[in-house]
Amino acid sequence: MTATASAQTDARDLFTELTGAVPAGSWSAPGRVNLIGEHTDYNDGFVVPFAIDARTVAAVGVRDDRRIRVISTFDPVPVEVALADLDGLFPAHRDEIVEWARYPLGVAWALQDAARAAGRDPRSLGGVDIALASAVPVGAGLSSSAAIEGATATALNDVWGLELSPVALARAGRRAENDAVGAPTGIMDQMASMLGRADAGIFLDCRSLEAEVVDLGFTRAGLEVLVVDTRVSHAHSTGGYGERRAACERGARIMGVPALRDLTPADLDRARELMDDVTFRRVRHVVTEDQRVLDAVRLLRAEGPRSIGGLLDASHASMRDDFEISTPELDLAVDTARTAGAVGARMTGGGFGGAAIALVDHARVAEVAAAVEAAFAAAGFGAPHVFTVHPSDGAHRDR
Ligand code: GLA
Repeated sequence: MTATASAQTDARDLFTELTGAVPAGSWSAPGRVNLIGEHTDYNDGFVVPFAIDARTVAAVGVRDDRRIRVISTFDPVPVEVALADLDGLFPAHRDEIVEWARYPLGVAWALQDAARAAGRDPRSLGGVDIALASAVPVGAGLSSSAAIEGATATALNDVWGLELSPVALARAGRRAENDAVGAPTGIMDQMASMLGRADAGIFLDCRSLEAEVVDLGFTRAGLEVLVVDTRVSHAHSTGGYGERRAACERGARIMGVPALRDLTPADLDRARELMDDVTFRRVRHVVTEDQRVLDAVRLLRAEGPRSIGGLLDASHASMRDDFEISTPELDLAVDTARTAGAVGARMTGGGFGGAAIALVDHARVAEVAAAVEAAFAAAGFGAPHVFTVHPSDGAHRDR
């Protein structure tokens, strides 16, 4: 049984334990890997993530009152609030809610608001019970949070008859993450989880939110995406992520542009003269990363996935040296994978821990994985979790 199939069973069983009834339906949404374009999303720039074949499942049933109750395999204690109280909880009193429950409750809060904006009386939205089970590893940089948000948003959209678009549901997920959880993230993860397609990446313009499906062709090219979860976990609601974001905003202000997206590599000489070295290097990462995304999309379309190895490597070097969000474990994973024959490798996600990805020939996967495991042991690091992922479909109703 795959991890996602177990999560499907677990979510339904958990629902039945909680309510004594069978759920009205179950919905699921995937985690994501970002192929390229890191820390560009909140700078209005470009990204190419793909949804992975590990999903979070929400088993949902309606109630005859106006309360929402959530339970998950993360925590045996359910959390219950009146729908009418959500506006009072978020964002000001979010600390009253245990952290995992802020994700699904935050989505309900954001959707209630979206319904109101679309002219629906929120009092017409009925109570729900939601049981969540996840096959997406938590803290690995694979967006387990966007998977919870996507599964919850897709379920509530159907159960409440909201008829919101996938992009509107992604926005609600992001709002939950930013305001209900308190992590100042961009919209990449939610868009990937909502819009993912089998064998394809989502080329996203984070300013217009226009998304194009880009054929990745990994299988045809005989390639696999190997994930090295360093098991050094990260949290974007604290510290480094917000600091990087602030540095980018400072850089844009100094350059007199709305966002770093509005700069090109040709502006970098001027940027170097106008700002301190640290801010400059943060800016240089984002500006060159946007360019690498555009180059990667062009190369994927013209020559296929083997041609993007050098861009993955350059992306990693830029995150390590300029943006300074890599860790010794991530660097070792990337260097070892490359030496063992990967076509290209980079850390993926927000950084400060989490996972690296390597594009590897199907026949060399075991060899590269073994090399990474041996290198971690030799360095005295904890054992990584190494596995392959496949570009998969986004959020949908399962049954
Ligand atoms: C996290 C955030 C995303 C994005 C990445 C970095 O995954 O949730 O919005 O900023 O980091 O690319």
